Amino acid sequence: MRIAIVTGASSGIGEGFCHALDSEGLDSIWMVARRADRMEALSDSLQTPCRIIESDLSESSGVDRLRQLIESDRPEISFVVNSAGFGRFGDSWEIPSDLTRDMISLNCSALVDVTCMCIPFMPAGSSIIEICSASAYLPLRSLNVYSATKAFVRSFCNGLRRELDGKGIRVLEVSPGWVSTDFIPGSGGDVVPPGVFRHTVTREEVVTQAMRDLQKGRKRSLCGWYDRVQVWMCSHFPSLATIIWERSLGS
Ligand SMILES: NC(=O)c1ccc[n+]([C@@H]2O[C@H](COP(=O)([O-])OP(=O)(O)OC[C@H]3O[C@@H](n4cnc5c(N)ncnc54)[C@H](OP(=O)(O)O)[C@@H]3O)[C@@H](O)[C@H]2O)c1
Repeated sequence: MRIAIVTGASSGIGEGFCHALDSEGLDSIWMVARRADRMEALSDSLQTPCRIIESDLSESSGVDRLRQLIESDRPEISFVVNSAGFGRFGDSWEIPSDLTRDMISLNCSALVDVTCMCIPFMPAGSSIIEICSASAYLPLRSLNVYSATKAFVRSFCNGLRRELDGKGIRVLEVSPGWVSTDFIPGSGGDVVPPGVFRHTVTREEVVTQAMRDLQKGRKRSLCGWYDRVQVWMCSHFPSLATIIWERSLGS
């Protein structure tokens, strides 16, 4: 049985990847998130049979549930997409500590766990798609913990690619800037100055670009010229990029 596993499938970018993977001729798409009703509705709109796995991946019991299913069914995993994640605006010490713990747990620990539990079941030619962020390229005031989790994801992708060298498994880091999904209001983005979100792209643009970059064998996927300029600036002129970010915050 050839499958894809998509975390964060119930909305946004993860949902977009489920649509894109629908044309890959898979036997099943395993969708993982907490909102089963959203995944059921998505499943009804796809041609590929889907398995709904209702799990809270910020809890080790949620991660273990997925591990048990993989180990008992032993599917051939052609794609893993780790899209489950969230962010929170605010100075690091102002964010409630349980939220900070969940953010690190979901964005970092669960992503590593899910990736590593899948690798033994991935043949040559299969793909790991990690949803990172342009925020991985610069420590961001008022979004510090989140951007640090994404810097972790970026570093993990770079190391994993080397570890997998010779096995024929691709690792794609997908690092968009702002994407118009539930992420923005969920992060408290409705109380930050609107200038922060002066440029957004759609999840369809992110997913289409990522699938194209995957086919071309690229290591990283950036969506559109704005995100490319942003990441280039963060990499080459971090002080200037910091000033621009802090001005957009009104500080
Ligand atoms: N939108 C942006 O501006 C942006 C930019 C760069 C990177 N990203 C990254 O893109 C990824 C997807 O975000 P999105 O924009 O698509 O936002 P989204 O629409 O809010 O999607 C987040 C997904 O993560 C799942 N999720 C959240 N907490 C979870 C938990 N504890 N256990 C399991 N699943 C959980 C959600 O499902 P349930 O609530 O049903 O569990 C949902 O499916 C995230 O990693 C985010 O950091 C987003």
